[in-house]
Amino acid sequence: MSGPIMGEDAPIKTPRHVAIIMDGNGRWAAARGMPRGFGHRKGVEAVRDAVKSARAFGVEYLTLYAFSSENWRRPQEEVSDLMGLLKLFIRKDLAELHSADVRIRIIGAREGLKNDILGLLEEAEETTRNNGGLVLVIAFNYGARDEIVRGMQKIARRVAKGEIAPEAITEAILSENIDTCDIPDPELIIRTSGESRLSNFLLWQAAYSEFVFIDDLWPDFDRNLFQAALEEYSRRERRFGGVESVDIAVGSNS
Ligand code: IPE
Ligand code: IPE
Ligand code: MG
Repeated sequence: MSGPIMGEDAPIKTPRHVAIIMDGNGRWAAARGMPRGFGHRKGVEAVRDAVKSARAFGVEYLTLYAFSSENWRRPQEEVSDLMGLLKLFIRKDLAELHSADVRIRIIGAREGLKNDILGLLEEAEETTRNNGGLVLVIAFNYGARDEIVRGMQKIARRVAKGEIAPEAITEAILSENIDTCDIPDPELIIRTSGESRLSNFLLWQAAYSEFVFIDDLWPDFDRNLFQAALEEYSRRERRFGGVESVDIAVGSNS
């Protein structure tokens, strides 16, 4: 259910889909003289908070970038730490998310993941499949270029079988064959920690997204910062290539 929320001055436009690049856990820990894992643990609390805020604000889809296809480059110990936290999060929070009517979707490559992680991801999706509340999209082992390549491979297989002509491939067909099929493009992408880059996140879906980059580190992200980002989004004029400000998105999956 989406609707206006009251900002300090005026009602603000609530995006249907907010995607967040949760960055800065390591720096948050380093600033406290602690190991990076301490920041990741604190980051999970910020995730819980962001889910609650998204529900309270009436956001319909919340996508969280949890682990990128490039994050395997980190030291083995940190990778295991992050895998452990994801498992713990699903084990501890699934029942509560389910009772809050949250539907979980996982995007990213499944190939190469260990069986215990795969099992938990599938359990989370399966348990919450029929829920009608917030759709929580977790981008895990996700890279946008990898997602597009996997989508192209699916389409190419259909072309090779003669089911579809190359000229018949449209933007909508690509959208239907990538991990985010059925999920509208995000109107708003937030990145914490002061970095102004996408880091291989939602490259196809972000064609007309608004970006809000904030300096705060992910473990410090709270409801006030979320609301400030929504207020900033409300002040943006979206034109989609035209000359006038429009509220309705154009595009293949909007
Ligand atoms: C984000 O924080 C969490 C993940 C990428 C999993 P970082 O771990 O990237 O923290 P910084 O950017 O090094 O501070
Ligand atoms: C992006 O953050 C990935 C996630 C938030 C999961 P990174 O910290 O990995 O990105 P770079 O390396 O700074 O671009
Ligand atoms: Mg980072």
